[in-house]
Amino acid sequence: SQLGTAAAQLTQVPTESPKISKEVTILYGSQTGNSKGLAKKSAQALEANGYQVTVSAMSDFKPNNLKKLQNLLIIASTHGEGDPPDNAISFHEFLYSKRAPKLEDLHFSVLALGDSSYEFFCQTGKDFDARLEELGGTRLYPRFDCDVDFDEPAAEWLEGVLASLGDAVGSTQAPSQTAINPALESVYSRTNPFKAEVLENINLNGRGSNKETHHLEISLEGSGLTYEPGDALGIYPDNDPELVDLLIKELNLNPDEKVNVKQGDVRTLRDALVSYYEISVLTKPFLQKAAELTGNKELQDLLVPGKEEEVKGYIHGRDLIDLVRDYAPWNVTAQEFVSILRKIPGRLYSIASSLAANPDEVHLTIGAVRYEAHGRSRNGVCSTLVADRINPGDILNVYVQQNENFKLPQNTETPIIMIGPGTGVAPFRSFMQEREETGAEGKSWLFFGDQHFVTDFLYQVEWQKWLQNGTLTKLDVAFSRDTDQKVYVQHRMLENSQELFEWLQEGAAVYICGDEKHMAHDVHQTLIDIIEKEGSMSREEAEAYLANMQQQKRYQRDVY
Ligand code: 2AM
Repeated sequence: SQLGTAAAQLTQVPTESPKISKEVTILYGSQTGNSKGLAKKSAQALEANGYQVTVSAMSDFKPNNLKKLQNLLIIASTHGEGDPPDNAISFHEFLYSKRAPKLEDLHFSVLALGDSSYEFFCQTGKDFDARLEELGGTRLYPRFDCDVDFDEPAAEWLEGVLASLGDAVGSTQAPSQTAINPALESVYSRTNPFKAEVLENINLNGRGSNKETHHLEISLEGSGLTYEPGDALGIYPDNDPELVDLLIKELNLNPDEKVNVKQGDVRTLRDALVSYYEISVLTKPFLQKAAELTGNKELQDLLVPGKEEEVKGYIHGRDLIDLVRDYAPWNVTAQEFVSILRKIPGRLYSIASSLAANPDEVHLTIGAVRYEAHGRSRNGVCSTLVADRINPGDILNVYVQQNENFKLPQNTETPIIMIGPGTGVAPFRSFMQEREETGAEGKSWLFFGDQHFVTDFLYQVEWQKWLQNGTLTKLDVAFSRDTDQKVYVQHRMLENSQELFEWLQEGAAVYICGDEKHMAHDVHQTLIDIIEKEGSMSREEAEAYLANMQQQKRYQRDVY
């Protein structure tokens, strides 16, 4: 068990060693702010137990100070294909470089955040954990790997860390449980979402567009929730009732049968599948649970070592209905079935409004995701809930997710360059509202792109208003399907490369929001091209220039 391992680890601390200090450093690596939030809450809990705590983003920590630390807690999320989040990259590199010091005096523990639907689940946390041990550190408490529903395991980890620290520093007091609990809970949060009323829901695209992008206005009245430009709003979506009915039919179950969702929460199977469980994503760990539950030989065969690629190919684009059909019959009870499901995670959307301009409101820009796969049409769970089934007056369960890695410059005179094709434009509407409302003096430049000028120029009237009143200094647009040759935002950047580099030299901050895999990657390369050319630099120098901008938080990305 986890506790057994912890005890085993602790016995490795030589008993005659001097008691270690009550100073604890918490370093976090966070993309969307979850690790940061947990770091802050853990700090509160530790302080309430008499520790002196320093909390810092990995990017703000001077690695030369590592050698001086005695107690280090690492809270790190994993991004994309097992990559560290932006603000953990340099620290991660440092630890794996030759410059990394021996850390024989260090006691450490790692809390890893991740998403088990990705292959490299919690990889960044695993990296830190393994490397700190390699460098000579002693594991104070075992690493915990958390899935999207991280609150409970995180609280358990923190409790374990406190107990282990208490032993290590020779404290006779048991950790204060009350200090742990309130620190991990606030009024409305991811674990206690606010029931918010929808005020407006408008399709921004014109007739004949390939896209369907919804502008959603939501009331936060009475919630006490606040946010800043750059933050995101989480929505807990309901599943499509039609899909739920289909799934129940495939399982040969009774929709009205009662199931126990969690302690004290009994619902009908249909309601539980609509509002509580994830039914749209298959993961390998889930397939394993299903194979165990059903005893299906064929499914068990698929999961033997060596067939990883086949498993990946199978789960891609398929959902639970496919799985139940393909490996029929299931012969399980309703309760057995839900026992292998996980709670549906919230979906995050970059906020498209500023509170200063819209008190008690939050606006989102949500692109409906629809595609064909394996002979069925498929719909994004939350985006098509919004597109097809949400009307003004309806209620959505929401929470605010801070994003420290996507913030307007503190200095309102700093020029900003915003690159946001498609729904990536959302946070820039928030930036412009905020700058207009606060009378910020800094120049601003927006690069926007989408398929067609006539149908897809999202918020066109607003950009033009901001151009006219000086809130927006420059606007360049790229409509990719109005011409024979595709034109993208990065082509517009290249056409303006001299001026763009001048803005960078004046200290402009650059923001990219939108598609990660193609757009953000290509725009990143284009920025390096521009710096290389206009700054007469080598490729390496141009890359270092951009890395330096990133270090100074003058290059920030919100990509998905
Ligand atoms: P496309 O769909 O015509 O290829 C918003 O979705 C806009 O981003 C669209 O105009 C889309 O063009 C464009 N886009 C697609 N791939 C891109 C890339 N690699 N870089 C920049 N823009 C891209």
